[in-house]
Amino acid sequence: MKQHLKSAFGRIAHRFVNGVTQMSTDVVGGDTSVEPALASLCRQAATEGIVLLRNDGTLPLAGGARVAVFGRVQNNWFTVGYGSGGDVKPPYRVSLMDALGEVDAVHVDDQLASAYRVWCADNVPDEGFWAHWPRHFEEMPLTAELVAGAAERCDVAVVVLGRAAGEDRENVLEQGSYYLTDAERHMCDAVMARFEHTVLMVNTGNVMDLSWAESYGDRLGALVLAWQGGMESAHALADVLVGAASPSGRLTSTIARRYKDYPSARHFGDRNFSNYVEDVYVGYRYFETFAPDAVLYPFGHGLSYTSFSITTTACDVVDGEVRVDVDVHNTGVHHTARQVVQLYFNAPDGPLGTPSRVLAAFAKTADLAPGETQSLQLGFAVDQMASYDDAGATGHRSAWILQPGSYEFFVGSDVRSAGRVGSYSVEELRVVQQLEEACAVEPGRRFDRMAAVRDAEGGTRLGWEATPERTVDLRRRILDTLPSALPALAADVVWRLQDVADGNASLEAFVAQLSLEELEALSRGDLRMNSPLGAPGNAGVLGGVTESLRRKGVVPVTCTDGPSGIRLSEHAALLPCGTALASSWNVDLISELASEHGREMIRKGSDVLLSPGMNIHRDPLCGRNFEYFSEDPLLTGRMGAAVVTGVQSQGVSACPKHFAANNQETNRTKHDSRVSERALREIYLRGFEICIAEAAPHTIMTSYNKINGVWAHYNHELVTTILRDQWGYDGLVMTDWWMQPSRDPNFPALWDSAYRVRAQVDVLMPGSTIGGLRRGYDRSLLRSHARPEGITLGELQRTATNVLSFVLVSRPFTTGRVTA
Ligand code: BGC
Repeated sequence: MKQHLKSAFGRIAHRFVNGVTQMSTDVVGGDTSVEPALASLCRQAATEGIVLLRNDGTLPLAGGARVAVFGRVQNNWFTVGYGSGGDVKPPYRVSLMDALGEVDAVHVDDQLASAYRVWCADNVPDEGFWAHWPRHFEEMPLTAELVAGAAERCDVAVVVLGRAAGEDRENVLEQGSYYLTDAERHMCDAVMARFEHTVLMVNTGNVMDLSWAESYGDRLGALVLAWQGGMESAHALADVLVGAASPSGRLTSTIARRYKDYPSARHFGDRNFSNYVEDVYVGYRYFETFAPDAVLYPFGHGLSYTSFSITTTACDVVDGEVRVDVDVHNTGVHHTARQVVQLYFNAPDGPLGTPSRVLAAFAKTADLAPGETQSLQLGFAVDQMASYDDAGATGHRSAWILQPGSYEFFVGSDVRSAGRVGSYSVEELRVVQQLEEACAVEPGRRFDRMAAVRDAEGGTRLGWEATPERTVDLRRRILDTLPSALPALAADVVWRLQDVADGNASLEAFVAQLSLEELEALSRGDLRMNSPLGAPGNAGVLGGVTESLRRKGVVPVTCTDGPSGIRLSEHAALLPCGTALASSWNVDLISELASEHGREMIRKGSDVLLSPGMNIHRDPLCGRNFEYFSEDPLLTGRMGAAVVTGVQSQGVSACPKHFAANNQETNRTKHDSRVSERALREIYLRGFEICIAEAAPHTIMTSYNKINGVWAHYNHELVTTILRDQWGYDGLVMTDWWMQPSRDPNFPALWDSAYRVRAQVDVLMPGSTIGGLRRGYDRSLLRSHARPEGITLGELQRTATNVLSFVLVSRPFTTGRVTA
């Protein structure tokens, strides 16, 4: 009983804290202008992200068609999900009906539209509060007369269904979330019984169950995944409906027939921990290898209004690079469109089983007119096909391995239909890179993970093997690599940060002069969200957070969310959600959009965009999937790199998040993601690794969750061994907002911020202690330093160096912007 009361209290307190601290601020200032270039790129990205799942020719709507639009979402359009990633104040909102009203090509039925307008005006949706947002809006009840009348007047019906999701909770296997409500089902039944041609459109950020659509057979003309495409979403959709644009979006995650077919389904959403039993077999890697029949729409799928041929003209391996040349030809006669070409490989099984398909490269054509052809070259390094041996199965533990055998290449327009175009033979096992073990499963926590097992006929079947456990002596590793303190300077030396920028002083000399209090202040933000040191509504400020640091020229640096727009108290452009962006498969477009977005950051006073969201779509119920890109790490990494490159091209900074394995929202600050080192390296960390190598983000945010028993914000193996030592990352690492108190099990004299700084998670954001309830700063750092075997001066200085290296490249410093 006591325990029960305690947890009920905990829940209330948690909601209160989140509600108060993460709550959106009111709009300040009425500037609703948006740069036309930014609005236009938002529209193009939203358009290119729309995925046409099936079509019998109903789309595009014929010129002059009389269209009946059903579904209340026509007026209450979901432009994005909820939470920090959606809490943007867009300068305008366009509903589907507004957008359709702007096109002359079709006639929207007024009678039906007006019935919906009146009903929606009387039934304004309640948007709830933090973590209690609606997942859908109640549907308008339909009478048989209304549907029959519309069917008499119109040629085609468009039915729109809407779903939302948000941070801090999951979607659920219930009507109105993953499943259709009875009212929605009734609407679809009634419309498809009357109309010969029906288009179903799903306005969502997360994948929902779509198996019901199959039950309508030929009555269903077309099915469109419209996503949540930001403030220009409805315009984009109207363009696609009337054929002003041909859809060119492709699925970034597999849609399975039934939820329970997802390999994570039985190991998702537990409050305490999840065993990632599917291991590297995430998404299509699982379905294509073990369960092809469970797939409703395969990874990479998406139709066009035209048809294309993809002809492979060459497939060579030169100097360690696989190169595939293709000609893409628009074989249709009516529509200009873009095609996405996808290149997969199948690595041979050996002691390490491998998925039967892995995405290796992709490219999108320009607009191709009917009859037009474009040649593309897709390439990737042979070493990219290596698997990580975390168990020593190949005799090379903790190494990336190319197993001997034939590596087969496949090219096509989705994972299922991609055809074999060539192969490459590896004669002998090759160690591509020898690493040191990091982030393995905790001793005593091993579980069975999926493994591809060869059967007697040479086929592959699903088997199981135990995950290897951690063997590293972390205490020893840390003690062996503790940094020494910097040489002390003469007492009268005072350097300013500008002296470092001008080359008159080294960064080491600058750091060596800092007091313990200054070192402490650099390791945390300005105590709260909406810091007075930054633009109103900011997520937090770091860097020059005290007078004494500012006197030395350390400027305050302002962070804002991300990823769908700049979350401030004033208006800012609302971009398509992460999944919609990635569904475009157009890296150049996303980079261009991010670059224009970077310009908006400068106008609004944001120095660091807390974006992109780079977690993997492990399970379709994860509440934040809409913020993330894909189930595939290559696509995730390349999209993340596109955002970072674009933003940073303007001199402002990006902050990929949440590093790492933040794949569920349930109890997200306590949940332990238990996952093998192999799956971490090949799936959950890989996108970040690609993004860092390609785009060098200035900052990175850790995740809330634990990884194999250790919170990401304390995780030395994750942040020091893997991120910094093995990948060479030299930027700043910050926490996700606040952190969980804990003592370092290896070093009792370290706890909370001292434990964190030892891991080189440099900055606690926003800066106050746990949950923002205590407004003071966390004194653990200096208290620990004062103790025998506490945090060392060298470590405090190392973190200060990481922070200041970032401040030196941050926009306020490079432009000399002075903030009080
Ligand atoms: C989210 C982060 C976000 C931060 C600041 C946290 O709740 O997990 O993604 O950047 O808040 O708003």
